[in-house]
Amino acid sequence: MVSVLAQSHRPEAGNGNDSLGRPLRDLRISVTDRCNFRCVYCMPKEVFGRDFQFLARTELLTFEEIARLSRVFVALGVEKLRITGGEPLVRRDLERLVALLAGIEGVREIAMTTNGSLLAAQAQALKEAGLGRVTVSLDSLDDDVFQAMNDVGFSVARVLEGIEAAAAVGLRPVKVNMVVKRGVNEGSVLPMARYFRGRGHILRFIEYMDVGTTNGWRLDEVVPAAEIGVIASVTQPFCRDCTRARLSADGELYTCLFASHGHDLRGPLRAGATDEQIAGQLRSIWSGRHDRYSELRSGATPQRAKVEMSHIGG
Ligand code: GTP
Ligand code: 5AD
Ligand code: SF4
Ligand code: SF4
Repeated sequence: MVSVLAQSHRPEAGNGNDSLGRPLRDLRISVTDRCNFRCVYCMPKEVFGRDFQFLARTELLTFEEIARLSRVFVALGVEKLRITGGEPLVRRDLERLVALLAGIEGVREIAMTTNGSLLAAQAQALKEAGLGRVTVSLDSLDDDVFQAMNDVGFSVARVLEGIEAAAAVGLRPVKVNMVVKRGVNEGSVLPMARYFRGRGHILRFIEYMDVGTTNGWRLDEVVPAAEIGVIASVTQPFCRDCTRARLSADGELYTCLFASHGHDLRGPLRAGATDEQIAGQLRSIWSGRHDRYSELRSGATPQRAKVEMSHIGG
């Protein structure tokens, strides 16, 4: 089955691209919607509290299902896989998924975005399974500020341990993501820059985005790229080059971080669809894609219905 797909392996110009001419190159795979943090800009406690209904085990794609879908995505042109969450490392035996993904021919890179809290214990096994590198989120070196942001009292020191453990086993270069929120952690920008500069890790500042609908986003809380070097998805959108698809933990395909709905892949998969049928569905979804939310962002767009970041992993 895979050999049939292989004949149309890399899309030619104009073929396999979306309606704005963008090829499909990256797949971000969310393996869980759960997280052991409650970052105020992502999973505010008031919303993601005790009563919040997370996905049930049976709703989650199995590792085998994720690997099978990934294989079809790779046959259609995807080169880079990124494992995300929620927090991906709260899903048990994740190295088993990494090993399955690493066995797919044509995958150039497997990375993971994690909060680093469980990384020290798992770095070695992940590396051995075939993970290439990690991106760790860390919003401050100051415990008071960091704990106010992760909202579960998690210490900076343990995240730093995770980062160093990852680097030590070769999950390099380690990238560190810092979401900058006006009035909350701007003061941490320079200490973070100083700390990471000497350690061979790549620090990136990220503009606070209006993902989902629960974080109460306001433009005046965004620290714009013009003030510091950042991933400027709000003030300098990069939709034109966006080659990413996102797979949620329950098997929905989202063609934009800010999409209001996904396309169900789990249904067909569990109903016995062949790889060719799934490939056909993916081609049809991608060819109709015209997302460019960040370029269209306006005073009205933050109020739109949008998927939560913890559901599709950012
Ligand atoms: P690498 O550059 O390969 O390390 O990964 P990345 O920057 O794509 O992934 P990462 O998970 O580190 O994301 C960094 C930040 O950029 C997060 O805040 C993401 O939500 C944001 N981001 C990632 N992809 C997109 C995207 O397609 N659109 C927008 N608007 N923001 C994105
Ligand atoms: N704006 C910007 N970045 C965010 N992240 C989570 N929520 C937001 C938001 N509202 C970041 C995480 C992680 C990456 C996947 O996305 O901190 O580094
Ligand atoms: Fe968890 Fe990452 Fe969201 Fe923070 S940003 S709540 S660590 S998924
Ligand atoms: Fe891609 Fe949507 Fe982000 Fe634009 S807003 S870069 S289309 S994910």
